[in-house]
Amino acid sequence: MQIEVLGLASGRSYFLTYETSELNEILLDFLRKKNITIASSCDGKGVCKKCEIQNGWLTCQLTLEQFIQRQSNGKIFVGYL
Ligand code: FES
Repeated sequence: MQIEVLGLASGRSYFLTYETSELNEILLDFLRKKNITIASSCDGKGVCKKCEIQNGWLTCQLTLEQFIQRQSNGKIFVGYL
């Protein structure tokens, strides 16, 4: 299974594969594990809003599974990436 990260600043996209066992991971942690740079200054406490993606969603406040349920095409848009 796969999701796609689209960097709006760079125009680049990254295809990331995941396993069922990774669905409960926090999206911010999953993206970092896959070497996608996601901004954060509150270390995932939901305060700084720097990890925001489309629709105002915070990657530190969603699991990978919750994200996929909300965005069935699996596309993540990151403005500064
Ligand atoms: S990392 Fe600060 S709000 Fe998500």
